[in-house]
Amino acid sequence: MKKECRAAVIAGNWKMNCGPAAAAKLIEELKPLAEDADCGVIICVPFVDLQTAIEATKGSNIHVGAQNCHWAESGAFTAEISAGMLKELGVEYVILGHSERRQYFGETDVTVNQRLRAALNAGLKPILCVGEVLEQREQGVTEEIVRMQTKIALQGVTAEEMKQIIIAYEPVWAIGTGKTATADQADEVCGQIRKVLAQLYGESCAEATTIQYGGSMKPANAKELLGKVHVDGGLIGGAALKAADFAAIIHAAQ
Ligand code: PGA
Repeated sequence: MKKECRAAVIAGNWKMNCGPAAAAKLIEELKPLAEDADCGVIICVPFVDLQTAIEATKGSNIHVGAQNCHWAESGAFTAEISAGMLKELGVEYVILGHSERRQYFGETDVTVNQRLRAALNAGLKPILCVGEVLEQREQGVTEEIVRMQTKIALQGVTAEEMKQIIIAYEPVWAIGTGKTATADQADEVCGQIRKVLAQLYGESCAEATTIQYGGSMKPANAKELLGKVHVDGGLIGGAALKAADFAAIIHAAQ
């Protein structure tokens, strides 16, 4: 299977931006700009915007995701949200293992795996984030780090379940910094992730899995990044908050 046969997916990660009113406005701006998209379009919004986003995107080609979920089905976990709660609301996707969660909230490969298992069990489609920090890239251990993050996050996941999963390679040094990985760097690591998937699940699963790049992707660099053989889409932070920019990236994926 070649790149052309894989689903290209552009996902927006709004992070902690936009309350419900701003979310409704941004989605209304985005809908007409994205309606002719040739790729999958997802917006991952703050928990408080999910209901608004689900209503506002009904009948459109825009899919809705959350930015995290807890690993337990319910219980004494103040302020947390379970995968089942998201599913009940009508959420389809969930970002897991984002570097900001790892960096500021102590998430580990093991808890990412637990969350991923919970998301799959609830019927959500995970967008699993992996990526090295600058020091690790400089030490020459990017491949090892990304392999380890991927393998631990996917413990107990079957080849059949892999069909529900998108992987996002996000070098931490490129997130929100304006520093983008070069298209070749992005392609190299996305290719290494695909190799891990081939070892774990076989060639056809590896070839069928959508692997995104994320980290300062914007209209000006999207076409080159998305043109690479192993880069099947993007996870977009800052540029997802402007409808015109996000739409330009969507169109670059075609
Ligand atoms: P950025 O964020 O596009 O603002 O670098 C990407 C992400 O964190 O998913």
